[in-house]
Amino acid sequence: MPFPATRLRRLRATPVLRDLVRETRLSPADLVLPLFVESGPRAGRTPIASLPGIDRLSISAAVQEAGEAVALGLPAVLLFGIPEHKDADGSGAYDDEGIVQLATRAIKEAHPQLVVMTDVCLCEYTDHGHCGLLRADGSVDNDSSVELIARTAVSHARAGADVVAPSDMMDGRIGAVRAALDEEGFSDTPIVAYSAKFASAFYGPFRDAAGSTPAFGDRRAYQMDPANGDEAVREALLDVAEGADVVMVKPALAYLDVIRRVKDATKLPVAAYNVSGEYAMIKAAAAAGALDERAAVLETLTSIRRAGADIVITYHAKDACQWL
Ligand code: PBG
Repeated sequence: MPFPATRLRRLRATPVLRDLVRETRLSPADLVLPLFVESGPRAGRTPIASLPGIDRLSISAAVQEAGEAVALGLPAVLLFGIPEHKDADGSGAYDDEGIVQLATRAIKEAHPQLVVMTDVCLCEYTDHGHCGLLRADGSVDNDSSVELIARTAVSHARAGADVVAPSDMMDGRIGAVRAALDEEGFSDTPIVAYSAKFASAFYGPFRDAAGSTPAFGDRRAYQMDPANGDEAVREALLDVAEGADVVMVKPALAYLDVIRRVKDATKLPVAAYNVSGEYAMIKAAAAAGALDERAAVLETLTSIRRAGADIVITYHAKDACQWL
């Protein structure tokens, strides 16, 4: 029955009615806070110019930050390592005494209830900044890179990581990580697969933070073409077949349709990564007085949940907890 029998405004009349019929909820329990942990002599926190409010952290500062996350009700953090030395093979990634491994042990010791996820990739550890090993012609070799990715995941699990999250976009790495974890006795360690990771302009501030901008070329020979949605679904389904426990779409905002399609196709828990450039845009607009930061952040995070994400990885996580 159309208007006047139907009046959709009836259910919008009061805050309590609006709340009663709200379809999508946002809670601290849905959010994951990324942390940048840095090795080397610098103690404490080092601000990241392009990510206002986010710092590079020494191990002790990371433990403190993890404590704040727990106090705010956040269930999980996602660790990125910034090593003191980089080399061609990214050996810092799979060093049992590497920065992520040390930080994982320290955080788990201080806050055992906090879920520690680790980003598994070589790009922060290679001197050339690519996500795998290079061939003589400068291209990234898939299969030898996959071996090192699997080794890195096992090393993180051995250090106490609760969840590993491979972000390299090599073919076959989820199956290789699952097999390696199982073989080493970590059959209960879940894999959050960065399944549909696009070659995006929105990673700019992250690369600044992690010093992981490729020294030459770009990542388009392994990260996905932003134009492709069907292929994103194929990537996700392959990762499910290889043993992914959670599939991820990254970035989030320019890919809300992909989040929905991956959710519908896989029925798995879906994570979405609200990346550094997306965060920086809101911060810059808010600093310029162009929008209300709180409202814009909550609307953005809600939209990512409405698109189908169960888990939202976001640099806004601490602020959002305070506002919710
Ligand atoms: C590493 C990785 C990147 C991000 C997460 N893991 C950078 C990249 O692929 O260049 C980006 C996260 C962000 O922008 O917040 N492969």
